[in-house]
Amino acid sequence: MLASLLPPQVAAVEVRSDPAGFALYPEEEDCVRDAVPKRRAEFAAVRWCARVAMARLGLPPAPVVPGHRGAPGWPPSLAGSMTHCAGYRAAALTRRSDVASVGIDAEPDEPLPEGILQVIALEEEHRQVAGLLRTRPGTSWDRLLFSAKESVFKTWYPLTGRELGFEEALVTLDPVEGSFRVRLLADAGPLGDAPRAFAGRWAAEGGVLVTAIAHTADVLVPA
Ligand SMILES: CC(C)(COP(=O)(O)OP(=O)(O)OC[C@H]1O[C@@H](n2cnc3c(N)ncnc32)[C@H](O)[C@@H]1OP(=O)(O)O)[C@@H](O)C(=O)NCCC(=O)NCCS
Repeated sequence: MLASLLPPQVAAVEVRSDPAGFALYPEEEDCVRDAVPKRRAEFAAVRWCARVAMARLGLPPAPVVPGHRGAPGWPPSLAGSMTHCAGYRAAALTRRSDVASVGIDAEPDEPLPEGILQVIALEEEHRQVAGLLRTRPGTSWDRLLFSAKESVFKTWYPLTGRELGFEEALVTLDPVEGSFRVRLLADAGPLGDAPRAFAGRWAAEGGVLVTAIAHTADVLVPA
């Protein structure tokens, strides 16, 4: 499902269960030495996906240690993203010369817990989600909006090194095309060249929602 959401220059690897017998590098192992089994399992599984993606790009395996604000520390020539939720783990990796930044996120296709939509959605997004829930039942549109925003953050942060609040990105979901557009409302401030828009794609399969953004060049700001 993930590969269909990303351009061909991005190696996308996803699994529905944790690969057995996979060994982390010592510096990765150090990051989860004291973690609970669930955290160790998801941390290792996405790194297995990342190793497979590296191989698909014709690159040797390399450790991926969480860096500043948890962002994955890719080899300098690469851009990528990883995601895990119950029953799904994935990594997407590309050469930075092809794609500047990638963000992927997976979520269970279930309604958000009570009160969360109010916290993460702008008024316009709230109206959009309410309309979709009414007219197109069967997809958790509120959760999809959340996932799109998490993909936005994972694309934005490695590019800018800046936080991004939920109110600083306006997401417009296209329920028919399986796409979404993002207008970034953050004050660019000293980041005069920070992106102002992203375009993404989404899919729902087997109880999981996946969103993905591959930011290449300037994307036209949505109307
Ligand atoms: C960072 C964040 C987006 C991760 O969300 P999540 O639901 O935990 O995401 P997933 O479980 O799908 O993925 C976790 C992976 O995200 C990646 N990640 C973590 N921090 C990251 C960052 N700052 N930049 C890019 N990727 C990051 C890591 O690879 C992590 O996996 P790992 O810890 O095993 O290496 C989330 O914790 C967060 O801080 N959200 C608030 C910021 C936000 O979303 N703002 C809204 C913008 S519109």
